[in-house]
Order: sequence, then structure tokens, then C-alpha cells
Amino acid sequence: MSISLDVLENIVREAGSIALDYFGNLKKLEVSKKTPRDLVTEADVAVEAFLKESLTKAYPQFGFWGEEGGQSDNQSSRWIVDPIDGTHSFSKGQYFWSISVALEIDQDIVAGAVYAPALNDYYVAEKGKGSLKNGQPISVSAEESLSDSMVATGFACVRNYLEENNLQRFCRIAQNTTGQRRFGSAAMDICMVADGQVDAFWEQELNLYDIAAGVLIASEAGASVTDFKGREGIFPKEVLVTNGKILDQILPLM
Ligand code: IPD
Ligand code: CA
Ligand code: CA
Repeated sequence: MSISLDVLENIVREAGSIALDYFGNLKKLEVSKKTPRDLVTEADVAVEAFLKESLTKAYPQFGFWGEEGGQSDNQSSRWIVDPIDGTHSFSKGQYFWSISVALEIDQDIVAGAVYAPALNDYYVAEKGKGSLKNGQPISVSAEESLSDSMVATGFACVRNYLEENNLQRFCRIAQNTTGQRRFGSAAMDICMVADGQVDAFWEQELNLYDIAAGVLIASEAGASVTDFKGREGIFPKEVLVTNGKILDQILPLM
């Protein structure tokens, strides 16, 4: 069951222009709270509605799971969508937010696209065929030393209720690395491991729609994708993505 990456790119880029229309008019943007720290805007809802309609029209055989609208009937082969990843950054007029679209068939992510409209960066991958950024092949960094590394992370909305809320972990890792970043879009963070802008990313308490496309793009670019214990696989509750070369150095600090 393959798809046309051109069809996917056209749909995702058009979703991006819908988001940019709202981004260019933030003073009027309707923002509401799903939980005290988890925001949703009218742009998230509009972009998801467009993606659902367009992807379902182009590929009626697949189901749909969107962060804002939930899951359709067919969930064995489905699109997994985060219409705006980094909603808080978006609502503040920052550039680090993205649209994440993955195709999962029988629990296997077979295609994924992450698009950062404000930066016009489009990442895409198909399983077994490598990763592209703006049409060019990408690969993870060559950095071999954790102490010379640049890492990125995020802090879950529910951190106040977590026993281990990543702040202690961040302190341990910050003392053993050169650069640390909190960009604000997990999907983009993972793609920045894929193209070598950062050497590792980790976060806890995420959802599959935050990371599904990103982890395929990263693993096709040579990244390791594990949980905090080094178990290979996709674990949204604790995801660690590295260039592979610093994995054994960062694991003892997780
Ligand atoms: C959020 C972003 C953020 C991460 C949060 C996510 P959202 O996604 O990915 O970087 O730290 O945990 O919820 O809510 O903006 O789609
Ligand atoms: Ca998200
Ligand atoms: Ca979102």
C-alpha cells in the first residue's frame, strides 16, 4: 500500500499555508486551553480539518487519527496527524512549530512528513528509502563525544504531577554536554537530530502523533530511536533519539 510522496507534499504544504494565514494574524487568533498548560487554537482545528478532508479524499482506504479530532473507524491503517506541533510557540509568533503527518499500516510507520511552514523546511521519509529535507538527502551528525554535543528536550504539560519530571534529568545532561535547546516542537526536535542540527533529543509524556513522522525521518537518516533504557522502538512516554554515536554515553544519565 504505497502512497505518492508528491500528493502528500502538496497536501501538507497547503495545510502549511492555511496555518500561515492564521500565523500572520495572531492578534485575532482564538486560543483556548484543553488543560492548564495544553493550548489549542482555531488554527490547529482548521489545519486538522483540512488534512482530514484532503488525506481521506486522496486515500479513502486509510483511517485518520488527529490530535484535536480523535480517531476515525479504521485504525489498522491510518494517518496519524498533529496539525500544529508547538501550538504555544505558534500562538506567540515564534518560528519553531510544525505540521506532522505519518502513515501507519499494521502498527508500522511506513511514511512521514514534518513541515515547518515559518521556516519553509519540509522533511519526508518512506520506510527503507532514506530521508529528505527540502528534496535533499539528510543524515545524522558525526559527533562522537557527549561532552561536545548539542542536545534538545521538552517539558511535558503535566510535569507538576510527575515524580520524575525531566528537570533533574535535564540538569544531569546539561552538566555533561556543551549545548542545550528547548525549541518547542517535538516533531521538529526529532527532525533536527535527523539532519544533524542537534545530536540528541529526549522527552517524556508525549503522544504518538507528536513523534510518529519524526521518528521515521530520524531512523531513516541513521538515528537511534529508543526509550530511556535503550530499548529500540517507539515509546511516546519516554522517547530518546540520538545520532547513534552518543547513545551509550547519554543512557546512563537518563
Ligand atoms: C507539544 C510540543 C512540545 C512538547 C509538548 C507537546 P503541541 O505539542 O511538541 O514541544 O514539549 O509536550 O505537547 O501540544 O504543541 O501539539
Ligand atoms: Ca504535539
Ligand atoms: Ca498539536
